[in-house]
Amino acid sequence: MERLQKFISNCGVTSRRKAEDLILSGKVIVNGKVVRELGTKVSGNDVVIVNGQVLKSELKEYYLLYKPRGVISSVTDDKGRETVIDLIKTETRIYPVGRLDYDTTGLILLTNDGELSNVLTHPSRDVEKEYVAKVRGFFSKDDALKLSNGVILNGVKTKKAYFKMKKYDKKSNVSYVRAIITEGRNHQVKDMFNLLGYDVLKLKRERYAFLDLSGLKSGEYRKLSTKEVKQLYSLK
Ligand code: URA
Repeated sequence: MERLQKFISNCGVTSRRKAEDLILSGKVIVNGKVVRELGTKVSGNDVVIVNGQVLKSELKEYYLLYKPRGVISSVTDDKGRETVIDLIKTETRIYPVGRLDYDTTGLILLTNDGELSNVLTHPSRDVEKEYVAKVRGFFSKDDALKLSNGVILNGVKTKKAYFKMKKYDKKSNVSYVRAIITEGRNHQVKDMFNLLGYDVLKLKRERYAFLDLSGLKSGEYRKLSTKEVKQLYSLK
């Protein structure tokens, strides 16, 4: 049994807030009766009709994709570019949890579970995201410390992070840097490097919380196990 507004939003029709408005305005019918109480509990056996449409509770799907370069992490693209959704064979309306830039590669989760997506992207959650960046020049220890301690981006200090050089290739004058951040601001990793004058040549996300890319090649994906989904829900 779950609360009616949660059931409605889980069916993918609308948000929980809007579902509450629908209930309060008498647009929701449960087993033939208009229900206006927000606390009402329903189960999969109840027939729920919203705006004349019978709701079916959607099965939840969870995917871990190794995103290639040149793929956009949104559901549609107005320029007709390939999206992360195009890479996954499903009839279900899934969407990415957070974003990776068009030219960033690596791990991205996709699901139709709005609740999990909210849990994971909520700023208070501090979910670790680990990247390897290829940047131009020698990445100094001093700069690693600066970025790890936090820098001001768009007027707001970044949270504590971990930046450390893995390797410096003298011949091509590029550094490979491991970066772990817990926030998910747009272009955050690139902006942090850019702030200190480093050009980011490549960026790859290798880890999201306890999940990594083991066993996957670029463009491949797998379903998450029930255990992994539970673990994601119970992070922290
Ligand atoms: N930070 C960025 O700058 N880009 C990404 O795609 C992810 C994190």
